[in-house]
Amino acid sequence: MQPDFNFNKNVNKELHHKKNCIIMLDSKMEDALNQQVNAELWSGYLYLSMSYDMDNKGYEGMASWFALQAKEEFEHATRFMKFIGEMDGRVTLMPVKEVRQEWLSVADAFEDTLKHEKVVTGRIHQLMGMAIELKDYATQSMLKWFIDEQVEEEDAARKILEKLKRIENSPGGLYALDKQLGKRANGED
Ligand SMILES: [Fe+2]
Repeated sequence: MQPDFNFNKNVNKELHHKKNCIIMLDSKMEDALNQQVNAELWSGYLYLSMSYDMDNKGYEGMASWFALQAKEEFEHATRFMKFIGEMDGRVTLMPVKEVRQEWLSVADAFEDTLKHEKVVTGRIHQLMGMAIELKDYATQSMLKWFIDEQVEEEDAARKILEKLKRIENSPGGLYALDKQLGKRANGED
């Protein structure tokens, strides 16, 4: 005799429905996460632009540091997109706005980096605030990684700026820092 799976089917259907109710993204949260995808892509563009500007200025190490920074930003965008997909949401890719093409000096680029990272930290905190308000525990858990990441990002930019201030644009100092930053490995700050 064939086993009767009808009962199981109904249970599965019910569970599936229940699961969707629990994990479904609020449309407000979905929109905000899609805006963040765009912001992360924009960050990637910004750091790529800095990378090519540093290369044009003859700082190969810094160019490679910013190229890795850009790669990380594109990975952040991917992380958000993957999460939206996993939450049964819809990824919406919006146009990425133009970025600045040139910086006055290395210090100018790193000052801009720290300023930008502070803006990103604010955005991530706003997203967390929204997730808390909506009692969206899955999004809160995902955002925790970004909150920790932002602490590292700001710290890395601040430390490089401090070094730049200490060498005060001395060519020898800049040469040494360029060499040091060129050693940044994939996955490091
Ligand atoms: Fe990022």
